[in-house]
Amino acid sequence: MNLSEKLTHPIFKLVSKIADEQHIETYVIGGFVRDLILNRPSKDIDIMTIGSGVELAETVGKTIGNDTKVSVFKNFGTAMLHYEDYEIEFVGARKESYSENSRKPHVEDGTLEDDQNRRDFTINAMAISLNKATFGELIDPFYGLEDLRDMIIRTPLDPDITFSDDPLRMFRAVRFASQLYFDIEPETFEAIHRNLHRIEILSEERIAEELNKIILSPKPSYGFKLLDASGMLNIVLPEITNLKGVEKIGECGHKDNFLHTLEVLDNIAQVSDNLWLRWAALLHDIAKPQTKKYDQKIGWTFHAHEFIGAKMVPKIFARLHLPMNEKMRYVQKLVELHLRPIALVEDIVTDSAVRRLLFEAGDDIDDLMLLCKADITSKNREKVVRYKTNFTLVEQKLVELEEKDRIRNFKLPITGEEIMEMFNLQPCKTVGIIKDAVKDAILDGAIPNDHESAKQLAIKVYNRL
Ligand code: CTP
Repeated sequence: MNLSEKLTHPIFKLVSKIADEQHIETYVIGGFVRDLILNRPSKDIDIMTIGSGVELAETVGKTIGNDTKVSVFKNFGTAMLHYEDYEIEFVGARKESYSENSRKPHVEDGTLEDDQNRRDFTINAMAISLNKATFGELIDPFYGLEDLRDMIIRTPLDPDITFSDDPLRMFRAVRFASQLYFDIEPETFEAIHRNLHRIEILSEERIAEELNKIILSPKPSYGFKLLDASGMLNIVLPEITNLKGVEKIGECGHKDNFLHTLEVLDNIAQVSDNLWLRWAALLHDIAKPQTKKYDQKIGWTFHAHEFIGAKMVPKIFARLHLPMNEKMRYVQKLVELHLRPIALVEDIVTDSAVRRLLFEAGDDIDDLMLLCKADITSKNREKVVRYKTNFTLVEQKLVELEEKDRIRNFKLPITGEEIMEMFNLQPCKTVGIIKDAVKDAILDGAIPNDHESAKQLAIKVYNRL
């Protein structure tokens, strides 16, 4: 097969010319080739040469000119440059051998075949020649092209070797399956079971990176079901596998919260690419197992699961080395508030309740509404329709009240300092009591959201104390 017509980017002709001048075999290899065949646009190009990748990169950099910066990573024997918003990495062909207790391989120079052998999947091991005489020719020793056509993830070598060499590939198998909606070939899949113990040598960051890619894939439930079936989910996110199962007392059962969570995640994936909103969907019911109770009158309850769940978020994020900054706090907030809009829908929608929700959610109100809508997954169609209709009502109220009262980024129209000055107080509990009373009155609509009304109420409250 010749793919020269697809190699339209000028870098390929340029590298081809230099490689011929230097008499070195050079290829484009890996994910770029896979994506080229799949017609998925990719901005990362891996160039592999049977020789020094660094030297090739430096010559290419000089030929491009315009002060092209070539970054050299001496320890890895690789070099990288940017060209027209493409990131191009250069590496010499290598042969790798691994030891039992490390992800770091022993690396030596190798042939094209050595280099293709050490790669993770058949679809990622294809190379295209760049030398003039064979320009565009596909070198595909493991029939990656067929696997692409058949939508299959398979290791080029015995999967026990490929996975043991680098256990991250077990997550990558699921990640590619989830991103591309491919199957994992049965022998490859079974090998994951056998090599689960190797996960312990992986860094949390790299696992989290793969989890994030699974979460960001078009139908993340597929990836999570594969993670679960392979045994990996229970190792990295046991809180999610804990959600599995349905308990019944008499005729009364509850939803399978694992399947429900995945459905909510898929629903969110259809409306938002925001990774952290998707994490919130994944974790929204995380505390259901520990809060589950059976009540004779109302059936199964999960009281306070949103608060306990929110408390679990930082622990999970810390364990997976996910960011502990405002992103984590955003996920935590959405988990904590995820029942609030639906509670409004079930109740009579009062202005005061809507204002309070606006105040607590702030700028994240729109995402919270998306999450809450995605959370409506009942099998009872009538119930879903009723909920969604009421939901529209709450949305209208939110817009109306926000326009009128500007609660979203609400700041109290009176400060603590002003209260202290007014009543000649030192910092003390009284100041907090007065501030809370003013806040409540505004959110309840008892007084307008302005300075004079706040001041008058502060005086009233102070005199009553
Ligand atoms: N690779 C590998 N084993 C790994 C990581 C990478 O064999 N654990 C090889 C694969 O041939 C892969 C290439 O290195 O195609 C580049 O890796 P990477 O950039 O991580 O993945 P891509 O395949 O390019 O896919 P994506 O950009 O979507 O991550």
